[in-house]
Amino acid sequence: MRIAFVGKGGSGKTTMSALFSRHLAAAGAPVLAIDGDINQHLAEALAPAGDTPVAPPPLGPRLHDIKAYLRGTNPRITSTESMIKTTPPGRGSRLLSLLGDDELHTRHVSRAGGVPLMATGEFDDNDLGVACYHSKLGAVELYLGHLIDGPGEYAVVDMTAGADAFASGLFTRFDLTFLVAEPTRKGVSVYRQYRDHAREFGIRIAVVGNKVTCEEDLLFLKEQVGDDLLTHLVHSDWVRAAEQGRAAPAGPNTSDPLGTLEPHNRHALTVMREAVDAHPRDWDRLHRHAVEFHLRNARSWADARTGEDLAAQVDPEYVPGPATLLL
Ligand SMILES: Nc1ncnc2c1ncn2[C@@H]1O[C@H](COP(=O)(O)OP(=O)(O)O)[C@@H](O)[C@H]1O
Ligand SMILES: [Mg+2]
Repeated sequence: MRIAFVGKGGSGKTTMSALFSRHLAAAGAPVLAIDGDINQHLAEALAPAGDTPVAPPPLGPRLHDIKAYLRGTNPRITSTESMIKTTPPGRGSRLLSLLGDDELHTRHVSRAGGVPLMATGEFDDNDLGVACYHSKLGAVELYLGHLIDGPGEYAVVDMTAGADAFASGLFTRFDLTFLVAEPTRKGVSVYRQYRDHAREFGIRIAVVGNKVTCEEDLLFLKEQVGDDLLTHLVHSDWVRAAEQGRAAPAGPNTSDPLGTLEPHNRHALTVMREAVDAHPRDWDRLHRHAVEFHLRNARSWADARTGEDLAAQVDPEYVPGPATLLL
């Protein structure tokens, strides 16, 4: 299952991506956290106080090699250069299983706070004027496009703030998108933007309130968001302590790193996992969206850029899924 965290800057996307990933990992589930934000802070958020996280070698600068790898022997993709972020897999493409024993995972996954982590990489000065952050996110889009993940396995992506993700097909690659919203007018305005896009494309979103401090906060969210409000986290001293580099107090069960997180916030994480698990993957729909966005990109810029008709990259009878992994 793939889960995205989106929302306004500062709303708590990185904090929640980290908490949710650690929550899943503590329950023994296979989980890969992916930092897809321009400002890369997920490694720090995952690592408990006193731990120096190791940033993984970023995906962004190796986009070309990643394309070459995923392209495999797919005859419909005439060259690595003609492979774009939306190019869907077809016969001959290399498919990935979550945290599989392949070149991509071996090179790009490190661990932070016991959670496997991948990252797009910072947007640096060299990128100014020549590339946009979308090209780095393209690596995540291609990764998810070639990932055959099963139920009970999780890829958790901490996304850029705002509606950037809509510039590509990335936002259609998820089973559930959590919109993190503080109980403020700005917080819910980002929600409205997402809701409208999500409706248009049949994407599942759920709002998770954050930094809720009182009954009025909760009422405000309920009023503004209605049934899309799944659950909420309250202001957390545990999170604040971690942010200040103080170790969280040890709980009775030392094998559970979130053992001393506030019970309300622990419960919210459980509700979030249940919401993810409640809707099994529909591979046909996922692939249909992938093809749709690929054709849009082809028409709007990529055919002209590559000098090819990229619609020809679509393998008509092919739908990736658990069965194709075995071919
Ligand atoms: N529930 C919470 N309780 C206390 N502090 C929080 C909570 N959620 C987020 N924060 C703090 O708010 C700030 C912004 O959170 P962050 O996750 O970095 O936001 P984003 O990734 O959306 O920009 C951080 O200092 C973080 O520690
Ligand atoms: Mg962040």
